[in-house]
Amino acid sequence: MFLKVEDLHKVYPSGTHALKGVSFEVKEGEFLVVIGLSGSGKSTLLRCINRLHDPTTGKITFLDKDVTHVKGEELRNLRKSIGMVFQQFNLIKRRSVILNVLSGNLASMSTFNSVSENFSEKDLEDAYKCLDIVGISEKANVRADALSGGQQQRVAIARSLMQKPKLLLADEPVASLDPATSNSIMQYFEKINKELGTTVICNLHFLSLVRRYATRVIALKAGEIIYEGFPEEIDENWFKTIYGEEAEEVEIR
Ligand SMILES: Nc1ncnc2c1ncn2[C@@H]1O[C@H](COP(=O)(O)OP(=O)(O)OP(=O)(O)O)[C@@H](O)[C@H]1O
Ligand SMILES: [Mg+2]
Repeated sequence: MFLKVEDLHKVYPSGTHALKGVSFEVKEGEFLVVIGLSGSGKSTLLRCINRLHDPTTGKITFLDKDVTHVKGEELRNLRKSIGMVFQQFNLIKRRSVILNVLSGNLASMSTFNSVSENFSEKDLEDAYKCLDIVGISEKANVRADALSGGQQQRVAIARSLMQKPKLLLADEPVASLDPATSNSIMQYFEKINKELGTTVICNLHFLSLVRRYATRVIALKAGEIIYEGFPEEIDENWFKTIYGEEAEEVEIR
């Protein structure tokens, strides 16, 4: 079993019931896209999977292991096998691209700051390989904040690859980018999925991107799964069920 989520509930301390009994499975090699309106629970779901958030009840099994409440060493191992890419890239702005990528190998940013620039030749070689995958190794020595949004996201993807993740989570990775750049970023996720065999779970807003890149889709509405299937099966009726009667589809190619 690659990933199995069973009857997952997340209630925030504020009382918000963000996930209400979510269950699904992911097979190795899938490119699963999660859709749904703002506030439907997409980010909460990803954050429960890599345990940035603690699930309230339910069970998460990853690589045949119950990881729902793992702590300490086991939690660090879990986080090592799950990469994460965010909408806002989350790079260390004043650091060079290559140092940002190298930091992907470290358990936490505090460790990163303390060991500073002490990396092995092998780490450096790996970091350049990761930059090559997203076609941006020529920017290795440029400061992260001197790059465009699309370039920063490629660096963030390279950083996540440093840990050789089995599963790559991406939370609206193209929501801050223009349509053309969005597509090129999605193509890197596709390449990583197909060529490295990394399983991807990605939250997306635009259905045209979902149709183009997802192998399977789940839709959340108010913390519950209301659709699970193939992207090509999301017709006008499903669209209205997922996004509401008033919604209109915006094309992004
Ligand atoms: N850290 C938090 N503390 C309290 N409530 C939260 C927290 N994060 C999210 N929520 C609430 O949980 C619900 C689900 O939020 P979540 O961020 O998972 O939605 P989303 O589908 O990712 O939305 P968006 O498309 O806007 O990113 C919302 O009602 C939100 O206000
Ligand atoms: Mg979100």
